[in-house]
Amino acid sequence: MSGKIVGTGSCMPEKIVSNDDLAKIVETNDAWIRERTGVARRHISEKETVVSMACAAAQKALEDAHMKAEELDLILMGTSSSGTIFPSASCMVQKEIGAVHAACVDVSAACTGFLAVYQMGQAYIRSGMADKILLIGADTLSHLVDWTDRGTCILFGDGAGAAILVSGGSETACEVMHSDGGRGQALTCDSRHRDGSKELSGDPATYIRMDGKAVFQFALSKVPEVILETLEKAGCTTEDIDYYVLHQANIRIIDGVVRRLRERPEKFPSNIEEYGNTCAASVPILLDELNRAGKLKKGQKLVLSGFGAGLSWGTALLEWQKEN
Ligand code: UT7
Repeated sequence: MSGKIVGTGSCMPEKIVSNDDLAKIVETNDAWIRERTGVARRHISEKETVVSMACAAAQKALEDAHMKAEELDLILMGTSSSGTIFPSASCMVQKEIGAVHAACVDVSAACTGFLAVYQMGQAYIRSGMADKILLIGADTLSHLVDWTDRGTCILFGDGAGAAILVSGGSETACEVMHSDGGRGQALTCDSRHRDGSKELSGDPATYIRMDGKAVFQFALSKVPEVILETLEKAGCTTEDIDYYVLHQANIRIIDGVVRRLRERPEKFPSNIEEYGNTCAASVPILLDELNRAGKLKKGQKLVLSGFGAGLSWGTALLEWQKEN
């Protein structure tokens, strides 16, 4: 028995930073950022934290699922920027929302974080170890970005997305995950020298460092490959898929995946223009937007796909079973 998603939620910080705002602090411009990335603006946290946004997204997902926090037996949270080594961010969320019966685990898989927790949630349900799971992807990469590096600071934004996964899903659910630590140096952020405050130490290694071209090429080759691998494993073809909910890293990566799969662009919803790359939050935020807009119909097949630091990449095929 697989799990099915019965509720979604999301939360973004209040403050919006436009490309023109960024052009005041680094040598860049709106036209370059839009054309090379698809990003027009991003939400950047001031008072919000990974945990506060995760709690807000979780509450909305619980409401959408008509469930109480006490019913949850597991919280799995993908985050790489919660600001504490321990206690885990998921334990802090548990406390805030009152999910007193839930076990809590954080997962560090960067932009693949939501796919990782979704897949783990499915494995818990299939093994019988859990029944009602809160899945969260939440990040504030703005705290880890070098705001003098125009190659990275233009890309990222902050946010949180959540989904409730419960047993009773369709047997077409199918997942694949891969990692290649050998290529990990393409995207790094070292926490060892941080002093626990929000301020970074000044050591360049403690900021996000990225070989943008290497990550771009990796995504363009591996994302279509893992999608096709998942479809084959599930006995499906691209014809069966209604929507591809991809990690929002760069609109040119999404366009490239459309071309390589010989698919129709309208099957690839995107919100990168509004939020930039929100790391583990991007897939559940987009899923929540589709759900709330009433675009997801019972019986439709969705592909979720995440990719990023590690390097890591993963995909899930699911049948939407929620009535809207
Ligand atoms: O979640 C997964 C994590 N990350 C990703 O998926 C990111 C993947 N990579 C990318 O999205 C792209 O590689 C970037 C958006 C980061 C960079 O785009 P690019 O097309 O690979 O640009 P580039 O680094 O090759 O730079 C092209 C030119 C260079 O100038 P010259 O050498 O041609 O004169 C750069 O110096 O654009 C310049 N440039 C910029 N110009 C204005 C680089 N960044 C900027 C900027 N504004 N922000």
